[in-house]
Amino acid sequence: VTKRPLRIGIIGTGFMGRVHSHAWRQVAAHFDLPVMPVLHTVCGRRREPAQELASRYGWHNVTTDTTALIHDPDIDLIDITAPNNLHADLAIAAAKAGKTVACEKPLACTGANADRMARAVDDAKVASFVWFNYRRVPALALVRHFVQSGRIGRIFRVQSAYLQDWLNDCDSSDSWRLQKDMAGGGSLIDLASHVVDLVRAITGCEFLRVAATMRAFKSCRAVVPQARTGDDVTDGKDALSPSRGQPECIDTCLPWGDGPVDVDDALAITADLSNGAICSIETSRCATGHGNDLAFEVNGDRGAIRFRLPEFNHLEFWDNTLPVVERGWRRITATGSAAPYASAYWPTDHALGYADSFTNTAADILRSLGTDESFSPNFDEGRACQHVLDAIAQSAAERRWVELSQRISLPVGH
Ligand SMILES: NC(=O)c1ccc[n+]([C@@H]2O[C@H](COP(=O)([O-])OP(=O)(O)OC[C@H]3O[C@@H](n4cnc5c(N)ncnc54)[C@H](O)[C@@H]3O)[C@@H](O)[C@H]2O)c1
Repeated sequence: VTKRPLRIGIIGTGFMGRVHSHAWRQVAAHFDLPVMPVLHTVCGRRREPAQELASRYGWHNVTTDTTALIHDPDIDLIDITAPNNLHADLAIAAAKAGKTVACEKPLACTGANADRMARAVDDAKVASFVWFNYRRVPALALVRHFVQSGRIGRIFRVQSAYLQDWLNDCDSSDSWRLQKDMAGGGSLIDLASHVVDLVRAITGCEFLRVAATMRAFKSCRAVVPQARTGDDVTDGKDALSPSRGQPECIDTCLPWGDGPVDVDDALAITADLSNGAICSIETSRCATGHGNDLAFEVNGDRGAIRFRLPEFNHLEFWDNTLPVVERGWRRITATGSAAPYASAYWPTDHALGYADSFTNTAADILRSLGTDESFSPNFDEGRACQHVLDAIAQSAAERRWVELSQRISLPVGH
């Protein structure tokens, strides 16, 4: 049986451009899908990286013209992997052109722009998707299953830290991620966005109010002009290659918001959730010893569950309903055929990895487009997450609690 093709046009050829290309290319090999993805066109800011991506991953066409891509009648879905400040205009234009839109996280730089995006897909009646890929790490999907099926019971505590250390050295790469006008914020937008989405998805609870503190620590940063434009500088090695010139260190030892550093390096948040639980979140891009470390823990009256990204294929569960003498942390492997997504890959105990969470996301996008199955998170949920991020920034800037209940009137998805 020939499956309906879904022709994809992707914008961006950097880190996420590669990861999404890999996902679109692999997904039909692992999952039985109602529609067949076609890698139609890749759109880059410059032609050479787009051509390179096309030849490596099998995109049929290359362009540098986002408008032409969005209005190409032969394209069904626009996949946005450009820097954050471009998400809103690109997604709204794609929705107006009648395209399905899949957008990288965070949905936008501000809640107001995220509102516009959610309205645009609603008005155009097109499907929308946000690539919060961590939801589809099998072990985290299993964490959600434990929480939602009542194994943790009444939730008292949610704790998460998303820690990286790539900003610790003077010679670490500069990037559009260090500019508020392109990124929307620092670890808040980059890392806390994932955590806020996970808290909402795993607990099904809403953020009621937040109190946050934020810092920019750096006294020294590499300045690479190409990165300042959002061009194809994807890692420190690339940014510091001789062809790009030596980075200049700038002294930016100023409090956050008072100087040239206008994005945070780190933050800590305390939040009240709608079920009465206390949620604490920490994010940092200067957390020495943590390359890419997302930790997530939920504690309730019937049990507790925890996950860490470096232990991608595992989670730990504490069953508090057991006799006291039998209680203890139990390590569960999330690669078995019963674990979400894992059966699409290899036999039990044959590990999965980072890229697979994107392939799983692509599978659910394609499934929802070919069936009545809903997909979460769509732009409405991306928008809700964005308002929590806005409130966190406001709380840190004004040094006070900020209420959220009035801002978000959306049902929490799953
Ligand atoms: N889901 C995740 O875990 C995850 C991880 C990393 C990044 N992201 C998100 O993905 C997005 C891209 O991040 P990245 O790491 O791939 O960045 P990157 O810097 O590696 O790549 C950005 C790409 O956008 C292109 N671009 C810039 N301006 C453009 C324009 N005007 N028109 C077309 N293309 C343009 C650049 O040429 C580059 O190819 C961001 O929104 C980021 O937050 C998500």
